[in-house]
Formats: sequence, structure tokens, C-alpha cells
Amino acid sequence: MKILVLNGPNLARLDIRDSAIYGDVSYSELVKMITQHAASLGFDADIRQSDDESELIGWLHAATDASTPVIFNPAAFTHYSYAIRDAADMLRAPLIEVHLSNPLAREEFRHTSVISGVATGTIAGFGPNSYLLALTAMVSLLKK
Ligand code: DQA
Repeated sequence: MKILVLNGPNLARLDIRDSAIYGDVSYSELVKMITQHAASLGFDADIRQSDDESELIGWLHAATDASTPVIFNPAAFTHYSYAIRDAADMLRAPLIEVHLSNPLAREEFRHTSVISGVATGTIAGFGPNSYLLALTAMVSLLKK
């Protein structure tokens, strides 16, 4: 089965973002880690990144239509995109929200997630492991 792993704005530039917050794993290394962990769990991860809100919404619509489970780091859209929240709310399969950092331990504007309320659960603060933990959680949800 396929799990869609979506990444929002600026995540493809992890190598030049603040390593004190995001660590020193590049986006291409992160993609490799997710691909390998998904394969070890017997799943295929379809990993995508976009800086464009409408492209992310289009991918969520397609995931709804195909009942595809989604792991999603909406990045800055987490904090204010009601359009992404509404698209995520239509998903039929589980949605796990992930963050590399712990937004609750950062600036106040990051303390609000408009996505969490429509997600099955959220994993944040474990760096790239947030994605790997989310894959493990997703697989156990799907096996139920
Ligand atoms: C992030 C946290 C967001 O606040 C931020 O805008 C990001 C990355 C994270 O993975 O920690 O771009 O989603």
C-alpha cells in the first residue's frame, strides 16, 4: 500500500535552514530515510514537497479521492492555512501531522496549528524521526 508524505514550504531547503532548530539532515537525506523506513515496514512512500498552497491542496484532493493515508508536514501553512485544513478535513484515510521541531517550544505564532484538529494525531520535535515515528504509527493504524 502507498502512504503519501507531503511537505510544505521551505522544507526542500533544510540544508540551509537553521540547523540548531532543524538539525543537519538535508531534504534529500530525509527522503532517503523515509523511503527506507517505509520499505522496511512493507509500504511504499510517495514523498512530495511544494512551496505552493494550491499544489498541496490538489494532492490532498487526490488523496481523498483515492483514500490514500497521508503524513503531512504543512510547515508554515500549519499555522494559518484554513484552505489546507478544509482539504485535510475531507481525507478518508488517516492523516498524521508531523514537524521536525516542536512548534510549541518556539515563537508564539507557531503555537497554533489549524491542521491538528482534523488530523488523527501529531508527532513533533523529534527531527527526521518524527516522520519515521509517524510511519510506524500509520502502519499500525492501517493494520487495525
Ligand atoms: C515546521 C515548523 C513550522 O513552524 C515551520 O514553519 C516549518 C517547519 C517543522 O517541521 O518543524 O517550516 O513545520
